[in-house]
Amino acid sequence: MKIAVIGSGHVGLVTGACFAELGNEVICVDHDKKKLRMFENGEIPFYEPGLDRLVHANLTEGRLSFSGDTNSAVSASKVIFICVGTPSLKTGEVDMSAIEKSACQIAKSLNNYKLIVEKSTVPVETGQWLLKTLEKKAPKGADFDVASNPEFLREGSAIHDFMHPDRIIIGVSSEKAASSLVHLYSSLNAPILITDIKSAELIKHASNSFLAMKISFINAIADICEKTGADILRVAKGMGLDERIGHDFLNAGIGYGGSCFPKDVSAFINIAKKLGCDFKLLEEVRGINEKRSIHFVKRVDKLLGGIKNKTIAIWGLSFKPDTDDIREAPAVYIIKELMKKKVKNIRAYDPKAMDNIKNIYPNISYCNSPYEAAKGAHAVLVLTEWKDFKHLDLLKIKSSLKKPIIADGRNLYDPGKMKRMGFQYIAVGRV
Ligand code: UGA
Repeated sequence: MKIAVIGSGHVGLVTGACFAELGNEVICVDHDKKKLRMFENGEIPFYEPGLDRLVHANLTEGRLSFSGDTNSAVSASKVIFICVGTPSLKTGEVDMSAIEKSACQIAKSLNNYKLIVEKSTVPVETGQWLLKTLEKKAPKGADFDVASNPEFLREGSAIHDFMHPDRIIIGVSSEKAASSLVHLYSSLNAPILITDIKSAELIKHASNSFLAMKISFINAIADICEKTGADILRVAKGMGLDERIGHDFLNAGIGYGGSCFPKDVSAFINIAKKLGCDFKLLEEVRGINEKRSIHFVKRVDKLLGGIKNKTIAIWGLSFKPDTDDIREAPAVYIIKELMKKKVKNIRAYDPKAMDNIKNIYPNISYCNSPYEAAKGAHAVLVLTEWKDFKHLDLLKIKSSLKKPIIADGRNLYDPGKMKRMGFQYIAVGRV
């Protein structure tokens, strides 16, 4: 099938490359010329495991191409996926300007039957708005359908998530649209749920908000564990054994970050409010999350007997492992908090995210390894659970630290072992 993907960010590029891999002819569109030049050389402007290989292979096979011209990409395609960004405005509302711009461009190029699919995360009822806008702006007699097909791609495992989804959600208002999308996904072995467009849109916001709620819930339980001496890992395991609850997304820590959960929770709070629905539950989810960084730094401050003028090592800056993305990363907030408390020096290390965080904090010390970061520090803070951090020579680390203190925001190590090794060790929800 001929496909155009409008917006070649994380979602668009993964979607385009994966559809090409499934045998479709895909044109990925973006207005950023620098990005387009990189894509044409098979280079990717962000880190996503396996994506460079997939893009390169499909470019070579001629199934994937890149363009800055929305009109010709739309004219040449049957299915158009809108994958542009939908960031938060200061009010918490969704910034729909990129969607609006895409809709106007698509409308101009509607020559024969097209299926226009929202993949970006958008407020419920956007499909209705998109349909009306296209009807208003398209040439008379243009034949098209609108659909919603939300993405469930996690950064760091996006290709796997695309190829092996738990479910495919298809929101449509016609048989023709449904059968095109079912056909597109037919080679993936996954349950397909066909719904109306509004329900599909809601499934996305509801799913991300529910997962964020699970994380805030377990983080609130972690606080209770810290007060009582219970162990959050055992509590989460015991809860997760109940199939109705499940084990996933019960890892306590320093809070959720990234470009999705914080933005989508805020957007959903706003959407509910506008519709006159009481959803204070989600405000609490957000509130609990926002306090995680402050709570963590307070504990470190106490352990050190005052953090002012101390040197702090940080392991991990990205919002989660296997990505270089630092958007809404807990590390960003924790560094801000440390600076507020006037630490003397921050020595940071991350395998992928240092270049990105340098734009926010150009004046902290960046190191080439976790060992180098720990040298001469009064404490190490573990802020991202990169696999490598699990297999470090901790005795070597201990000997290079000024004080043998590790504050583990991701529960990477065993508290008993750490204490036996002579560390003053704090974790989240474990004593
Ligand atoms: C999330 C969803 O998981 C995807 O299904 C969705 O498609 C995507 O948002 C999106 O809307 O585009 P992502 O933000 O890449 O994916 O990452 P997650 O793996 O969901 O993690 C989000 C945050 O929650 C991270 O900061 C992570 O460290 C934190 N987290 C996750 C926890 O603190 N505890 C957990 O148990 C799980």
